[in-house]
Amino acid sequence: MSDIKKIKDEFLSKLKNQLTISEVNQIKTDLFGKKGLISSEFKKISQVDENNRKKFAVQLNEVKEELQERIDSKINEIQNAEINEKLIKEKIDITLPSRPYIKGKIHPVSQTIDEISSIFSEIGFSVEEGPDVENEYNNFTALNTPDNHPARDMHDTFYLDRNKHKLLRTHTSPVQIRTMLKDKPPFKIIAPGRTYRSDSDQTHSPMFHQVEGLNIDKDINMGHLKGCLNYFIKEFFEVDKIRMRFRPSHFPFTEPSAEVDIGYEIKNEKIIIGEGEKWLEILGCGMVHPNVLKNVKIDTKTYQGYAFGIGIDRLAMLKYGINDLRSFFDCDYRWLNHFGFDPLDVPTNYRGLSR
Ligand code: DAH
Repeated sequence: MSDIKKIKDEFLSKLKNQLTISEVNQIKTDLFGKKGLISSEFKKISQVDENNRKKFAVQLNEVKEELQERIDSKINEIQNAEINEKLIKEKIDITLPSRPYIKGKIHPVSQTIDEISSIFSEIGFSVEEGPDVENEYNNFTALNTPDNHPARDMHDTFYLDRNKHKLLRTHTSPVQIRTMLKDKPPFKIIAPGRTYRSDSDQTHSPMFHQVEGLNIDKDINMGHLKGCLNYFIKEFFEVDKIRMRFRPSHFPFTEPSAEVDIGYEIKNEKIIIGEGEKWLEILGCGMVHPNVLKNVKIDTKTYQGYAFGIGIDRLAMLKYGINDLRSFFDCDYRWLNHFGFDPLDVPTNYRGLSR
């Protein structure tokens, strides 16, 4: 019997045994590796005498192919067996009862931000965002806040380095600067987000939320600002009429500046918005100071506009009857379950904001 036939018979019978993948791989190396038996036979072709050479080569190729095929199908067999074994082991009993499905709730602050965005988008504002970690320039300097301004005080601002270059933004107003540096006027944006100040009691939290508004165009005046805020307050509290007053105030980044109060009264221990003799401050606003526009290279002869900053948490508390600001950030599941909103009930102006 020729060598080739011997190799073939020996290995075909080996491949009939039960083998692991690594054992089959070993067989492969024994046959077809650099010093493998079949590889060595191939090297002998040139030594075979000319009359038999062709026959030898044909026979060798046939054996090679047969062995290769057998090895491939053996590997297939082993892999299939492994999969079948796994399937049997990991069988799931679908007759088991399912676990109860617990639905999450949307936090009142997130809900309020969605409502505010929806109301402003209706009159052409788009939404911008800025980072919580700001630099001193965007947060103060560019907003015309002088070096000695009390807002820069260490007692109010969380600085992140000794040089007071980086800080946690104390308001959303730096997004005005970022937006105006990035694009060309006109601008009509709101920027909701987290803000930080070193303060903590029943009505102050070191992290709170604001929404900034900015409208810069060619003929914008204080009347537009009043109209816009009046529309917003009525839509937000879902009432037809609201008592509002603009009180003169001061902010470095607006001139003139105003604070806005809304009327309210307390009936049966509940706050009723829009009626009564009492006033509640809800936002700051004004016409953007020319120095701010100059800092972002906007021509103040052509463009001017208004800005406003609204405290979101307070609005949420008023609208949804929540009386301690700190409860927002306690992460109490029972509280969230009570005050939270259905995730599938996205607020829109058409369907109603909050239901
Ligand atoms: N940034 C001010 C604050 O945090 C609020 C504010 C007032 C924003 C007037 C404005 C504005 O854009 O025009 O107290």
